Amino acid sequence: MTEKQEQHRRDPQYKQAKRHGYRARSAFKLLDIQKRYNIFKRAFYILDLGSVPGSWLQVAKKFAEENLNKYKDQYYHRDHYKIMGVDIKKISPLENIKTVKMDITTLEFQNEIEAYFEGEKIDLIISDVSINKSGNKFSDHVRQINLCFKIVDIIKKNLKPKGVFVVKAFQGSDFNGLFKNLKSQFRVVKTLKPKSSNKLSNETYIICLGKK
Ligand SMILES: C[S@@+](CC[C@H](N)C(=O)[O-])C[C@H]1O[C@@H](n2cnc3c(N)ncnc32)[C@H](O)[C@@H]1O
Repeated sequence: MTEKQEQHRRDPQYKQAKRHGYRARSAFKLLDIQKRYNIFKRAFYILDLGSVPGSWLQVAKKFAEENLNKYKDQYYHRDHYKIMGVDIKKISPLENIKTVKMDITTLEFQNEIEAYFEGEKIDLIISDVSINKSGNKFSDHVRQINLCFKIVDIIKKNLKPKGVFVVKAFQGSDFNGLFKNLKSQFRVVKTLKPKSSNKLSNETYIICLGKK
C-alpha cells in the first residue's frame, strides 16, 4: 500500500464511511447537499455521472427506495425507480442499479441513456465527475470547467423540466461563465462547499433547482 493510501485509510471520514457501509467518504458530500437542498425530493429516475467507487449511487438508491413509499399521492410519483451510474472505470455492481463503463462525452453514452430510461426524461442528474488532476491548479480548473460544459449538454437533452442538477466544479476564473450559463437554464442556482469536502481543495458543487 502506498503512503497516500495508508493516510487515506487512517482518515476519520473514511472510517466513518466504512462504518455506514459506504464505498467512499464522498457519500457525506452528497448527504450534506441533500440536507441543505432536498435534491432527492420526488426523484425516481436518477443519473449519476462519474460513479466509481459508487458511494453516490448507494445514497441515491436509499432515497429513491424511500421515495416509493413517501410519495404515493396525486402529485408526480412512480411505482418504480431507475438509477444509472457511469464511469470510465468499471463500477462494482450494485443491486437494481444499471452501471456502465463509458466516457460520458461520447455519443454512445447518449444512446445508452435513451435506451435505459426508454426515452423518458430524468428527475435528477448528479455529477461528481472529476478530471485527472495534474497538480497545476489553473489548468486543472479550466479542464474541469470544460468537462462541466459537456455535462451541461447532457442535462439539456435528458433532464426533465423542473428537474434538479448537481455538478462538481473547481473555483477559478472560468467558474462564473459556467455559473451564469446554469442561471439561464434553472430557476435557482446555488453553490455549496460541503463540510466534508477537503478545505484546501478548490472544489465546489453547483446545485441547480427547477430546470426551465
Ligand atoms: C471523485 S470520483 C467519483 C466518486 C463517486 N461520486 C463516489 O461517491 O463514489 C470521480 C470519477 O469521475 C470519473 N470520470 C472522469 N472523467 C470521466 C468521463 N469523461 N466519463 C466518465 N467518468 C469520468 C473518474 O473515473 C472518477 O471515478
